[in-house]
Amino acid sequence: MNKTLITLLLLTNVLTTALKDTQRVVLVTGGNKGIGKAICKKILETQPDCKPEPRIVNIASASGPNFVSNLPSASDRAWYQNADLTWPDIHSKILETWDAPDYDNTAYGFSKALLNLYTLVLSRSHPSIIVNSCTPGWIATDLTAGMGASNEPSEGAKAPIHCLFGDVGEARGWYFGSDMKRSPMDKYREPGSEPYEP
Ligand SMILES: NC(=O)c1ccc[n+]([C@@H]2O[C@H](COP(=O)([O-])OP(=O)(O)OC[C@H]3O[C@@H](n4cnc5c(N)ncnc54)[C@H](OP(=O)(O)O)[C@@H]3O)[C@@H](O)[C@H]2O)c1
Repeated sequence: MNKTLITLLLLTNVLTTALKDTQRVVLVTGGNKGIGKAICKKILETQPDCKPEPRIVNIASASGPNFVSNLPSASDRAWYQNADLTWPDIHSKILETWDAPDYDNTAYGFSKALLNLYTLVLSRSHPSIIVNSCTPGWIATDLTAGMGASNEPSEGAKAPIHCLFGDVGEARGWYFGSDMKRSPMDKYREPGSEPYEP
């Protein structure tokens, strides 16, 4: 048996034990820095009490609703909120715009609008998983370096942690603002203002 295999077996054992004892495993992508790292730290610090129910939180951005609200036609805006769509529909949209120029940095907003739509579609297709998305807010990380953001990454961890461990009630396929309130997917909602009610 080589060293790699032994390490893998040990890791599998640790994971299995963790599953058996707590029924809880957290996978954080982008956990080496920025908001992902702050989420990992928060989880380790507080070890939030939670039911063993599967959840996913996608980290979106206010750029998503901003992108949708700037689309000229109502049908285009509705498309980004249509829970009856499927992954192939989303994939086709990505391919459709693959070569389009990135006018005014719209590609980022486009990707986050699609992420919100994917959240909705994923939630609809996997009702046993609590799938939601959120914006972390305007946070000082490598991504925003030189752009004037001053909030600490720990601030940005709040909404994701809420979506993962908080009481989200009936929220399924929802998009949350950085203040942990439901926000619309088709226009910007100021944190601290009234939560979105469809
Ligand atoms: N900061 C803000 O104000 C803000 C606002 C709204 C939304 N967000 C969203 O919050 C999330 C985290 O952003 P951040 O501000 O924490 O940025 P960050 O500090 O730059 O961290 C980005 C993380 O994503 C990883 N990553 C980048 N490209 C990847 C790829 N192709 N595959 C796998 N991992 C990749 C990076 O890993 P490496 O270091 O290995 O590249 C890093 O761990 C992003 O989705 C961002 O759009 C941030």
